[in-house]
Amino acid sequence: MKGKLITFEGIDGSGKTTIAKLLHEKLGDKAVLTAEPTDSWIGKSVKRALEEKRDGITIALLFMADRNEHIKEIKNWMKEGKIVICDRFIDSTFAYQKEHLGIKNAEEWIREVHQPFFIKPDLTFLLYIEPEKAIERIKDRKLTLYEYVDFLKKVQNNYIEIAKKEQERIFIINAEKEKEKIVEECMQILRERGII
Ligand code: TMP
Repeated sequence: MKGKLITFEGIDGSGKTTIAKLLHEKLGDKAVLTAEPTDSWIGKSVKRALEEKRDGITIALLFMADRNEHIKEIKNWMKEGKIVICDRFIDSTFAYQKEHLGIKNAEEWIREVHQPFFIKPDLTFLLYIEPEKAIERIKDRKLTLYEYVDFLKKVQNNYIEIAKKEQERIFIINAEKEKEKIVEECMQILRERGII
């Protein structure tokens, strides 16, 4: 496939949506900006399931159904040679659902379900901020099922574990720096990797 898949990850309040948008603006037409959960009806049902505080298995299956459909779109953009910037992807499922599934072999199960449709991002930016500060940033909006400090601490640990295992792919970025500096750091990494 000609294009590249770049993903942004991080706990709620890490600012990844803003940075993904700014990076997209910098890259212009050669990039496509997308996000999970998506805006499709399946993505909307994921958001609804979160609002209704459905159980971990239902929510995980909905996230993965949304991703299966989304990956078809992503592959088409990549065939066109686009740099696809995705605000959250598979690492979100490992980091968040591992804590909510309520089953022993959560990671294995998630990997198994993804197996028929999985694609690996070429590069991932993990925006790092302390959960207390992240919650402080988003306290004025309606908080979702996962947006409380104790939960986000576990999610953060899971992200760090994934990043340690995949140092070639995942770059940890200090999310407390100025936005412009973060975007420049991302641009620099993309240049070094020959992506732009
Ligand atoms: P957002 O705030 O980035 O739009 O994401 C909505 C919530 O969904 C956020 O709390 C993280 C969560 N999420 C998962 O738990 N698993 C996933 O696979 C994805 C994509 C998001």
